[in-house]
Amino acid sequence: MIVGIDIGGSTTDAVILDNGSVHVVTIEANDPVAAAAGALGKLIETCGIPLDRLTQVAATGAGSRVLGERLFGLPVTKVNEFNAIGIGGTSLVGKDKALVVSLGTGTAIVSVTPERISHVGGTGLGGGTLRGLARHLLGVSSLSTLESMAERGDLSRVDLTVRDIAGGAIGDLPPGTTAANFGKFAADASSDDKALALMNMIVEVVSVLSIAAARAANQQDIVLTGKLTRIFRFMQKMKRLNFVFGGGFIIPDHADYATAIGAARAALSSRGLD
Ligand SMILES: Nc1ncnc2c1ncn2[C@@H]1O[C@H](COP(=O)(O)OP(=O)(O)OP(=O)(O)O)[C@@H](O)[C@H]1O
Ligand SMILES: [Mg+2]
Repeated sequence: MIVGIDIGGSTTDAVILDNGSVHVVTIEANDPVAAAAGALGKLIETCGIPLDRLTQVAATGAGSRVLGERLFGLPVTKVNEFNAIGIGGTSLVGKDKALVVSLGTGTAIVSVTPERISHVGGTGLGGGTLRGLARHLLGVSSLSTLESMAERGDLSRVDLTVRDIAGGAIGDLPPGTTAANFGKFAADASSDDKALALMNMIVEVVSVLSIAAARAANQQDIVLTGKLTRIFRFMQKMKRLNFVFGGGFIIPDHADYATAIGAARAALSSRGLD
């Protein structure tokens, strides 16, 4: 069995694909070698699979470059992170063609076709931005606190809409479209309003960028992966995610661990190895 490990900017995930079922653990650790060893140890401990049934570690993510050739005696194969993102996202939705957007600490956009996997863009606006600005603006570190605040928030005290500046639609832009995130910031905006506006800004920017990238790469389906998908799910629940595009945005099961799954699948198929 192959273990996939993704040593990311915020978290390290380890997965084992076992006859269709997925065993997974996530840890937060600063040192990448400690993170990989810790995640592997915890995975073996929690899923009860003995070390001698494991044959290989497939490692990806920014921290994977410092790993040596072996981890706990297992050979380590390095997988290019963009390939792991592309293979992980498309395999989780059972497609051979899609735009895969990794919503992690930062945001990476990868276009997958049967012929090739290409890194087509990204942005430094992502989960790290959400955490940093939530601390700075609100003194809040926990995402669940941020979500409960946002549930009570009102965007109309923070975001400037097309209706606010034009009184109605502008051409094909509906009146409710955001003209400027935080552009109507009012003195009486509450912390709850700011929490919602912050999440909304990140979701809107990443969505708009993903749609532009999908059009440019001639893709119909956009697959969202990474732990910031939690915020997209939250905004869907709040009926705030209403972008219309081709096949639309797909958030598959196991989206949070898609890159680690992609690393394991890349090593299994020898596709996209460094
Ligand atoms: N339980 C969680 N623990 C940590 N971060 C979480 C959690 N749930 C959601 N997040 C958000 O997800 C972001 C991290 O996502 P993820 O773990 O997918 O990224 P990463 O792989 O560490 O980073 P990158 O891929 O950019 O190197 C955090 O910045 C945070 O905003
Ligand atoms: Mg990642």
